[in-house]
Amino acid sequence: MLSRSAAELFIKILKVEKRPILGFATGETPKLFYEQLVMLSTPDLLNAWKNTEAFNLDEYIGLPPDSPYTFRNYMYSRLYRYVPIPEKQIHIPNSSPSDPELECIRFTEQLKFVGKRHVQLLGIGRNGHIGFNEPSHTLRLHTHIVQLSEETRKQNAAAFPDNVSVPSEAITMGIGDIMDCDMIVLLAFGPSKRLALTRAFSGTLSTECPASFLQLHRNVIVFTDQENVI
Ligand code: PGA
Repeated sequence: MLSRSAAELFIKILKVEKRPILGFATGETPKLFYEQLVMLSTPDLLNAWKNTEAFNLDEYIGLPPDSPYTFRNYMYSRLYRYVPIPEKQIHIPNSSPSDPELECIRFTEQLKFVGKRHVQLLGIGRNGHIGFNEPSHTLRLHTHIVQLSEETRKQNAAAFPDNVSVPSEAITMGIGDIMDCDMIVLLAFGPSKRLALTRAFSGTLSTECPASFLQLHRNVIVFTDQENVI
């Protein structure tokens, strides 16, 4: 199973590294991955989790900290309630920062301070976004504020009830931040990701398909159920 194989790569890092630095993603796609990661986290890995630093790619802006729709809540309910990573080693942008620009600087500093991740999990948007780096004329290197595209807000609406609208802004790692890791594990399941995958790995780079910049990374592993897509 693809999600299990991806989770096994993370487990391998937990077994080998003294101080694992892991990057996580949210969304529909990795739900099974987290189930598998928790299942594979046997008691001999307790210390490894205690020594882990964990980063998330992005977070909505404008949701109160106790909102069930934050990516923070997504991560706690799927992973952090099951594995003993100390709270101070969990890094997710604040969803209701008093100064969003300052929050971006703080997060970028944390990334630099902790150092290069051993692995970064990624999904891909139908429009080719990674993290919340949306198609645009320009892309940013470091953590920044983004206006979410209508397409992305529509795509993510399934995670919100009818009376709660998807926020229009988010904080995301930039392309440079995402690439600053030893290995990228990209999960892309279902026909709706086929076009984005094809554009991402077609051989040209374009800011209109942010995932195409993954071609510049030397160690990207794509887990996909698409045939002949790349
Ligand atoms: P999805 O999102 O897993 O909900 O399809 C992936 C992404 O937008 O990165």
